[in-house]
Amino acid sequence: MKKIKNLLLKKNKTKIVCLTAYSKNIAQEIDNFVDIILVGDSLGSVLYDFDTTRSVTLEMMINHSKSVRKGITKSLMVVDMPYNTYRNKSEALKNCKKVMKETKCDAVKLEGGNKKIVEIIKHLIKNKIPVMGHLGLLPQNEKGKFTFKGKSSKEKLRLLNEAKVLERAGVFAIVLECVEKKLSKEITDQIKIITIGIGASQHCDGQILVTDDLIGLTNSKIKFVKEFGNVRKTIRDAVKKYKTEVQSLKYPSKKYLY
Ligand code: KIV
Repeated sequence: MKKIKNLLLKKNKTKIVCLTAYSKNIAQEIDNFVDIILVGDSLGSVLYDFDTTRSVTLEMMINHSKSVRKGITKSLMVVDMPYNTYRNKSEALKNCKKVMKETKCDAVKLEGGNKKIVEIIKHLIKNKIPVMGHLGLLPQNEKGKFTFKGKSSKEKLRLLNEAKVLERAGVFAIVLECVEKKLSKEITDQIKIITIGIGASQHCDGQILVTDDLIGLTNSKIKFVKEFGNVRKTIRDAVKKYKTEVQSLKYPSKKYLY
């Protein structure tokens, strides 16, 4: 696929910019500035206040993705496969095909790098489903506190090996979430596909953040989150003005009447 090939050409040349979107309105505002738009299952906590992404369903992902699709004209659109939708080869293929067909996305993302998931990913790729991997902190598997990965030499070796195995399986990119800085560099240097970091240092080939965090809609306390703007204030100011004008009969004025 041309979009994916072009992305891979950016490795070692220019950083790849990625963000999440859960709706058309956000997707169309960010599309011009990013390379990849991910419909992340983080929508479970960001929009629905779920304690874990495990509660996100395939139906929710498909519905949000259909909306996002309408806002994208140029970026690569990737959709997260939610928990319990890719437990074996046939389940994964059936559900990924459904997601690709109904949302018209360009690729899907699956978490993990163990033997079982790698076999499932190989099966998807053999069936022409482009796959993005996800290593390090895996929110669908995490119980309790989120901590960064790659502390012990055993864990470092495992993650480096998983990245290489995922590359051989045919994924075009790997999200590295909360991965120790030196390990992120080592993985990025040792594979030809692209790494997309989130809390995994500037050494990755690209970065991703949850858009709602970046624009100040969530009050996130996560260490790697930087608020680049504050749309909350913009929304409040607009709504306050609206309220004042409605109550003072200034709105709707003549201009807005039929
Ligand atoms: O669900 C999500 O939004 C993600 C990104 C944060 C990488 O997986």
